Amino acid sequence: MRIHFKQEEALQLLHHYPAYEAHRSEHQYFIEQLDKLKSETKTHGVSTHHVVETNDLLLKWLLNHISKVDIELGKFLKAAPP
Ligand SMILES: [Fe+2]
Repeated sequence: MRIHFKQEEALQLLHHYPAYEAHRSEHQYFIEQLDKLKSETKTHGVSTHHVVETNDLLLKWLLNHISKVDIELGKFLKAAPP
């Protein structure tokens, strides 16, 4: 995931994507949330709360980032000169 995000961000910089900072912020936020959940489960063990939070985070990521933000990036990159 981290490698994928870095590659996606590198493409945005290469093609001067106007929404680069906002897109990168969403990647950062997602990583922070996953790291937080990982840290909590390491310290306290896995609880129902963590399963629900993880599912919620992944669902929102799919619906809001992959299905919208990444799609917009894909359209931009397809239209960008090589
Ligand atoms: Fe992305």
